[in-house]
Amino acid sequence: MTEAQQPSALETLLHENRSFSPPPEFTAQANAGDPGIYAQADADYLQWWADWAGLLDWERKWDQVLDWSGAPYAKWFIGGRLNASVQCLDRHVAAGAGARVAYHWEGEPGDTRTLTYADMLAGVCRVANGLKSLGVGKGDRVTLYMPMVPELAMTVLACSRIGAIFSVVFAGFSATSLKDRIQDQDAKLVVCADATWRRGKILDLKAVVDEAVAACPTVDHVLVWRRGEGAHSVSPGLARDIEWSSVVDPQEPQCAPESMDAEDPLFILYTSGTTGKPKGILHTTGGYMTGALATTKLVFDLKEESDVYWCTADIGWITGHSYIVFGPMANGVTQVMYEGAPNHPGLDRFWELVAKYQVSIFYTAPTAIRAFMKWGDEHPARHDLSSLRLLGTVGEPINPEAWVWYLHHIGGGRCPIVDTWWQTETGGIMITPLPGITTTVPGSATLPFPGVSAALVNEAGDPIDGAGGGYLVLDRPWPHMLRGIWGDNARYEETYWSRFPGRYFPGDGAKRDEQGFLWILGRVDDVMNVSGHRLSTMEIESALVDHPAVAEAAVIGVPHELKGQAPVGFVILRGGFEASAELAMELRKHVGTLIGGLARPEQVHFTPELPKTRSGKIMRRLLRDVAEGKHIGDTTTLADPGVLDGLKKEYESREG
Ligand code: WTA
Repeated sequence: MTEAQQPSALETLLHENRSFSPPPEFTAQANAGDPGIYAQADADYLQWWADWAGLLDWERKWDQVLDWSGAPYAKWFIGGRLNASVQCLDRHVAAGAGARVAYHWEGEPGDTRTLTYADMLAGVCRVANGLKSLGVGKGDRVTLYMPMVPELAMTVLACSRIGAIFSVVFAGFSATSLKDRIQDQDAKLVVCADATWRRGKILDLKAVVDEAVAACPTVDHVLVWRRGEGAHSVSPGLARDIEWSSVVDPQEPQCAPESMDAEDPLFILYTSGTTGKPKGILHTTGGYMTGALATTKLVFDLKEESDVYWCTADIGWITGHSYIVFGPMANGVTQVMYEGAPNHPGLDRFWELVAKYQVSIFYTAPTAIRAFMKWGDEHPARHDLSSLRLLGTVGEPINPEAWVWYLHHIGGGRCPIVDTWWQTETGGIMITPLPGITTTVPGSATLPFPGVSAALVNEAGDPIDGAGGGYLVLDRPWPHMLRGIWGDNARYEETYWSRFPGRYFPGDGAKRDEQGFLWILGRVDDVMNVSGHRLSTMEIESALVDHPAVAEAAVIGVPHELKGQAPVGFVILRGGFEASAELAMELRKHVGTLIGGLARPEQVHFTPELPKTRSGKIMRRLLRDVAEGKHIGDTTTLADPGVLDGLKKEYESREG
């Protein structure tokens, strides 16, 4: 153990809130090592992005970089034509890198596969031809419900190859959530796996798809990829099912890429908003690919010939879209992809994989880091992690303790950490250190990526210059920004552009410190962040009220040691139903069944009343005070202040 790894040194670092300068050896080899890059990008941000776009393979070059005259609907690289899958596959193979490994894949049971860029190109073409044979074409929507297997990346790329708009639904979502998403986009085809492994058990994904698709008349077919390895016995085939082995496997491994306009849709990805209905975030082709290429290259300092990069996210989230599929593959790097749980069969599975594949760049979420800390230092210590040279985090604010632990116990005290702030809507990383340049401070995402402009504003929308706190806004368009909400432009304009006209409002609060670094403070709306995943309080409330025993429900996010935040429900029962521990459990399960396991409330409390304003609006702020045992804030607007005493008593009795 080096001196820097001693707990005492660690504690000192934490308490001094010290900063971490990039090691000179790192800066010397970094893709971005000159701080002048910021000024250069700012001097002409259109040129900056155009230079990045120029590194892609265009079939036809654009005539104009940006058209913002239809704000808030941006158009980038107008008149340009390209295909996203070509950026990720053909050009690497054409450049002689076909034999480079694209994915070292490892299944949870320990089965492995190695796929080169040439293998991926052939696989993607087969899937693309298979999709065409099922009648899928340009502009059609295809919903994917698959685990972390190479076929998921292949199907994503195959859709982009033929111009179909893909929408990946995280395979932990329930049948109802899946159904809602399929219906919202009128998907023609669903591609799924029959099963996957999770903590040693087989999860029957096909059963979820069958239930969802039963209520989706637009779906012509369900294309089923078999996971194998004993997973064959799950749900039987139905009439509309098509086996991957009969449709995809026999196809030719060549498929001409569809010519796409830069602004043709690439994908729709759903994310929670403040209402019960998820938003289908729409991304287009040229701008998204430009952002994915640039941010991956600079933030992760990718060296495609030598790095082994591992992002532990699921492709079902935006992080997997941008930083497992499009960004890394556009850059042509070798990746690790893992199917299962981090704690199966042992608590050191991740570290075993890092050592086995000699991972050099590792990107994960603070919630995972907190779990690693809890499991114990001995698990990473058992493995040789010296191949690592750069670490990243995403999804929620990282607490400084976790940051410092990550630096020492995973990064050996030597790896820079990039804390990356961004969203499904932003498409790519927006606020982040550049690892060869930025002196980082635990807990701060530091500065906007070159070319990106962020500001803090107060309630009235006036800019806050210098140190201070306020609402985070992005005040300049960027190529990988969302182009709208699928089928709901009014909601797009209202959600992101109405609060501070002319500026994009992501819904986060932030502060700026003396040296100009940004610290993201978390959501300022009724959205919570559970294990790095966005959940809407309204969505969980609707799920609770869906149960016959529930008359009314309020949900809040409370601080949670591992998850960051966890949902807690307060429920008023209908007449004839008795409060009981069993019923509380049943309600928690009900939410899990309707939305998915991650939305299941940590606790459900029964109450005869909820704190409401005189106009009938539930005051979640006061519920939060109760849950956090805080002094109850301002109650003057409350219709019946007595309600809180009862709630407090009930909460404390259950807590104890
Ligand atoms: C939060 C995930 C602090 C934030 C890529 C944002 C973060 C929401 C960070 C987006 C970070 C993400 N520090 N907060 N580094 N990264 N967030 O759409 O509240 O799943 O608005 O995208 O996560 O979540 P989403």
